[in-house]
Amino acid sequence: MSVVVTGATGQLGRLIVESLLERGTPAAEITATGRSVDRIADLAAAGVHVVASDYDDPASLDAALAGAEVVVLVSGNEFGRRVAQHRTVVDAAARAGVGRIVYTSIPKADETPLLLAAEHRETEEAIAASGLPYTFLRNSWYVENYLPQIPTYLEHGIVGAAGDGRVSLAPRRDYAEAAAVVAITEGHENAVYELGGESITLADLAALVADAAGQPVAYTDVDEDSLRGILVNAAGFPEPVAATFADVDSGIKAGWLHVTSGDLERLIGRTPTSPADSVKAAVAAL
Ligand SMILES: NC(=O)c1ccc[n+]([C@@H]2O[C@H](COP(=O)([O-])OP(=O)(O)OC[C@H]3O[C@@H](n4cnc5c(N)ncnc54)[C@H](OP(=O)(O)O)[C@@H]3O)[C@@H](O)[C@H]2O)c1
Repeated sequence: MSVVVTGATGQLGRLIVESLLERGTPAAEITATGRSVDRIADLAAAGVHVVASDYDDPASLDAALAGAEVVVLVSGNEFGRRVAQHRTVVDAAARAGVGRIVYTSIPKADETPLLLAAEHRETEEAIAASGLPYTFLRNSWYVENYLPQIPTYLEHGIVGAAGDGRVSLAPRRDYAEAAAVVAITEGHENAVYELGGESITLADLAALVADAAGQPVAYTDVDEDSLRGILVNAAGFPEPVAATFADVDSGIKAGWLHVTSGDLERLIGRTPTSPADSVKAAVAAL
């Protein structure tokens, strides 16, 4: 089984490679790729093929994908450019005759109104149209999206616009494990998995931080426009970034990141790491 992991120079992709190794895939059967391959020199030293490639450079993708049975396409992070970039990977996969593309997407990609989802929806459509077998991993939110803000939460509380909506959270490591499992086991052809761990409200998150830190942490709910303003004026985010974050909260409020499928637990064969444990570990590390 030869597996190519794109985005392996980033956080999720590296964890997918590590998970493949932990599950017994020989290093020589794994290709890790991305642009900044200096970041994964340790994987190269462990025997993983490391090939530099750029989603904007088809020839570099041909080199990375040659001989691949499965390509795990980790979605890129250049918003607005991702559909074209992902199409370039899909075209290269078709030229290479790969057996399957595993793509990291977003919950309910085919119907969710989240601003962030449009590029995932178009990518899923491009993969399906390619005729290549696929597996879609519709990953919900990383708990790590919230953990770096814990010092701010301790100082100012949490301000959000998610109301009583629940967001399904798991650490990147759990989503990575699921990606490794579907890459190297049978029965995932043209399957769509909705992946998420425990689902909590932002008020629950505030309570978890309070418990872990031993001090009160309030959750203040505001409307989406107010949150956007706070993110621009108090937190200093550029307007489009603030608009995207505020839109995520509205999406949580409407249930678009509330995953109830049980797919993550089934794929990794254990209960996903709880937000409580992730928060406790993050507070302990402060
Ligand atoms: N579910 C969530 O909560 C959540 C949160 C944030 C992001 N995401 C999505 O999940 C993806 C993985 O998350 P992450 O935390 O691992 O992100 P990350 O650490 O930023 O990694 C992104 C990866 O994409 C690669 N990449 C970006 N542009 C590329 C290009 N032009 N050519 C080749 N590779 C390129 C980067 O490699 P180089 O820079 O080395 O090329 C890097 O390896 C993100 O890219 C984003 O689509 C999901």
